Amino acid sequence: MRWAVLVFLSAVRAKPCSYQLPAIDDVVTGVEIDARIENDGHHRTKRSVHHARSEHFQPMRIHLHYDETILGLSEEKLTYVLHSLLPSAIGYWEQVLRVRRHKNNLLLKRKCNETFFLWDKSVRQLACGKGCAAATTCGDSIVPPAHLQPCHYCELRNDTTDGCATEGKPGEGIPEADFVLYVSSKQTERCIRNDTLAYAAHCQQEALLDRPIAGHVNLCPSALSTHSHDQEVLISTVKHEVLHALGFSAGLYAFFRDDEGKPRTKRNQYGRPFLMNDARSHFKWDRSTIDTILRTDWWTAEGAVIHPVQMMVTPRVRAEARRHFGCARLEGAEMENQGGEGTAITHWEKRIFENEAMTGTHTQNPVYSRMTFALLEDTGWYRVNYSMAEELHWGAGLGCDFVKKSCGEWISARKANRSSFSPFCDHVKHDGKRSLVVTKCNLQRDSVALCNLIPYSKKLPIEFRNLDAIPGVQKAGLPYYGGSVELADYCPYNQEFEWKISSEAEKRRDSRCEIETNRLENDELMEVYGHNSRCFDFLRPWTERKCGKIRTFHQYMAGCYEHSCIDGSLHIGLFNASSLHPCRHEGQHVHIRKITEDGWLREGILLCPRCSELCSECAEEKEGTIYEEYVGDPPLDEPCSATVLAPTVLLFSLILSIGRS
Ligand SMILES: *[C@@H]1O[C@H](CO)[C@@H](O)[C@H](O)[C@H]1NC(C)=O
Ligand SMILES: *[C@@H]1O[C@H](CO)[C@@H](O)[C@H](O)[C@H]1NC(C)=O
Ligand SMILES: *[C@@H]1O[C@H](CO)[C@@H](O)[C@H](O)[C@H]1NC(C)=O
Ligand SMILES: *[C@@H]1O[C@H](CO)[C@@H](O)[C@H](O)[C@H]1NC(C)=O
Ligand SMILES: *[C@@H]1O[C@H](CO)[C@@H](O)[C@H](O)[C@H]1NC(C)=O
Ligand SMILES: *[C@@H]1O[C@H](CO)[C@@H](O)[C@H](O)[C@H]1NC(C)=O
Ligand SMILES: [Zn+2]
Repeated sequence: MRWAVLVFLSAVRAKPCSYQLPAIDDVVTGVEIDARIENDGHHRTKRSVHHARSEHFQPMRIHLHYDETILGLSEEKLTYVLHSLLPSAIGYWEQVLRVRRHKNNLLLKRKCNETFFLWDKSVRQLACGKGCAAATTCGDSIVPPAHLQPCHYCELRNDTTDGCATEGKPGEGIPEADFVLYVSSKQTERCIRNDTLAYAAHCQQEALLDRPIAGHVNLCPSALSTHSHDQEVLISTVKHEVLHALGFSAGLYAFFRDDEGKPRTKRNQYGRPFLMNDARSHFKWDRSTIDTILRTDWWTAEGAVIHPVQMMVTPRVRAEARRHFGCARLEGAEMENQGGEGTAITHWEKRIFENEAMTGTHTQNPVYSRMTFALLEDTGWYRVNYSMAEELHWGAGLGCDFVKKSCGEWISARKANRSSFSPFCDHVKHDGKRSLVVTKCNLQRDSVALCNLIPYSKKLPIEFRNLDAIPGVQKAGLPYYGGSVELADYCPYNQEFEWKISSEAEKRRDSRCEIETNRLENDELMEVYGHNSRCFDFLRPWTERKCGKIRTFHQYMAGCYEHSCIDGSLHIGLFNASSLHPCRHEGQHVHIRKITEDGWLREGILLCPRCSELCSECAEEKEGTIYEEYVGDPPLDEPCSATVLAPTVLLFSLILSIGRS
């Protein structure tokens, strides 16, 4: 039966990153790779790496070392990890990043028996004071002896520390590698408790510039999936976690260097940054890297409050943030303020960087943008290939009001102005009872989406009460409403979602246009899903008429259709339609009419977006009257044949309940 597909909408999901800063004791610093120039009593000055020009940077080589836990995976998952997941994630960073290469094989330093170091004057380095540990670990993996230097230790003798020695032979090391990544797949406590896909961190830093040279990633085995719907989030998550190990981490900010190779943060007598007063796990960074800025008139529905923000203010990051938002007096790029250690400050602020992949939670369409690339260059360790960056639509060109003020102020000022308050929305997803949800396009038009505004069981903290009015919600109820993504300061916006199809528990359907299997059979809206599909909004809901009866598809206000760019204009393709339909200008109607197999006249009107939203080359748009394009047959009269009407009209408005499973 055609209409007998009951669709249940499951909650819009967000996958948080569960990164944890490595404890200071777990990170080995000062790893010497290239031999020193010795015997004249002087050590190689570090000047040789200063003033490094771009030509000294060469493509980064990441060596993958799998530990035996990976063999516990099923054959299918193992093949997937070895031949698809890691090569694509790691390959991406190898293409993006260039580093100053060392001459020698990569050889890591052994960990010490205890956290007790002695200063070895002869090599001007800290050495183990109580011998080396039996095994050197990197995250969940054990570093093989072949990757390790011999044990260098000192013994305390009176007040001198002349009793320093090296014991054992060096391993062979790893040739042609600038970074070694230890890959494990253990079902750890962290995997289970925090619904985690993967996590990673760095574990060793080299001596010359403090660049991380070793790290580990653990792929949570139960979360590994070879299902096509999960690929985007899995690959992006591994790229994201690995980037924490390569430099994007509050545990590394204090080690960042400027273009001359000088530390951006002051060092102590041992060449290390100072410790944070209150936190065990990271070093204190200078204000020229991360600065705290007070927003003293942060708008909330209950009056202004003071809202402190942490901003990355290094030169390229600042310039890129100003360019992206179109705000020349922006101080830098705002870092996440919520989520606790490991999330806060180690990610971009979700409110203003929504689908940038280095925000603290995965919501939709992750992109690695120029913003993240700028941070990587400002570490001083990398040069990047900006042509590998993906475009971030969120916030682009929206100006200082968008980036420096609360979303509440943005929404209320725009509403007062009767102008669009995109990218935010204020349509309640559900009110606890049954209410109508309405689909829209998300900002980058790659997915059908729902406004993620929901009621919470408790009032939101005052600084996140962003709405002073919500259609259909009484004043007293307002403090309970916010967007479902907490890290986005509870700002509501359109987000992709997953459908649940009750009759076929196995079949999965989400709202991304690019995934072919998302198309429903007998789709009422003549949608097209696939690589060339994008989301288009409707002028009003689709209808079907027959013999004076009318059925309306109330919940759909957007759908996925094929797009193509021909001769400077955007064209839209519908399912099984023989031709494409041109868009002459923004707001043009594409009027679709079709007689269905059972004799209904079905009608819908698609709205053309601005050509430049989807095409790179656009001819000038023709202003003027609304142009209507009729699809298929010319305008038809409502049919009225003798056919008996199907008795299923009620099922037509799909019954929805919000999954709270
Ligand atoms: C490391 O510590 C253990 C126990 O504390 C000790 O038995 C061992 O000898 C130490 N190793 C070295 C190299 O000193
Ligand atoms: C400390 O130094 C003094 C004089 O140099 C020497 O006599 C003594 O034996 C040393 N003690 C130890 C424990 O090495
Ligand atoms: C899970 O996440 C919480 C914070 O969200 C954190 O405190 C906790 O340590 C994490 N658990 C594990 C096992 O990582
Ligand atoms: C940067 O990446 C682009 C796209 O992958 C590539 O064509 C180009 O050669 C790269 N440039 C450099 C300098 O590596
Ligand atoms: C209202 O709209 C106009 C024109 O679109 C704009 O110049 C002005 O800044 C807006 N005012 C507010 C408060 O957003
Ligand atoms: C699509 O069109 C082809 C021929 O043009 C037809 O055979 C097929 O049945 C159509 N499919 C649907 C689902 O309407
Ligand atoms: Zn993260």
